Amino acid sequence: MDKDIFKKVDEYIGDLLGQEDEVLKNTIQSLDQAGMPQISVSANQGKFLQVLMALGNVKTVLELGTLGGYSTIWLARALPEDGKIITLEIDEHHAEVARRNIAKAGFSDKVKVRVGKALDLLPQMEADGEGPFDMIFVDADKPPYAEYFKHALALSRPGTLIICDNVIREGKVLDAESTDERVQGVQRFNQLLANTLQVTATILQTVGAKDYDGMAIAVVNRAN
Ligand code: SAH
Ligand code: DHB
Ligand code: MG
Repeated sequence: MDKDIFKKVDEYIGDLLGQEDEVLKNTIQSLDQAGMPQISVSANQGKFLQVLMALGNVKTVLELGTLGGYSTIWLARALPEDGKIITLEIDEHHAEVARRNIAKAGFSDKVKVRVGKALDLLPQMEADGEGPFDMIFVDADKPPYAEYFKHALALSRPGTLIICDNVIREGKVLDAESTDERVQGVQRFNQLLANTLQVTATILQTVGAKDYDGMAIAVVNRAN
């Protein structure tokens, strides 16, 4: 199928509703300058996260996978005055680049970049009684997505939004024989999501500027 139309429509939507300013453009450029991969969310996906934040009245965000802080800046811009973001990043160099971009965006006080392996930092956060967060955005390495989701639930309250990026992988999730550990990771996660009655969830396919993929959206159920 011709994907050109998806890119063009993504630009059309972006021109209308998802415009990047110099800070966001410079953040994307900083990735090239620092030899980092261009795997940030797209502009329209950043705007989509902002819409979800507004819907959920989100004041506190936990992000897994910072890269250069591009998604973090979109998230920070949708925070209220007293809002806060903690973003976890395994790579010290990525964290440094992100802190610089976040500072240029004016959010050093609202955003803390924590360096470490998410699977080490998350249990520590639980033990320290951190959270519950209003929104958790999972966008780090894909093999442990199911474990990340369990930790996200532990750091949630009824109403928390849990968003997980890249769970369709150009449709490779359909291949039950896939030997790609990223595909296997999101397949395990998607099944866990389906089995978790504690959340109301779906997956949106994402097309446009980035490769064909999908974003899982779960809301922790309120008691009924
Ligand atoms: N959310 C970012 C993109 C994140 S890319 C954006 O949209 O702008 C994924 C990031 O996760 C990379 O920076 C990578 O270094 C980091 N990462 C990979 N494995 C990790 C782990 N085990 N714990 C924490 N971060 C990890
Ligand atoms: C990859 C990771 C991402 O978070 C993403 O949005 C796209 C690609 C990757 O590791 O290839
Ligand atoms: Mg991603």
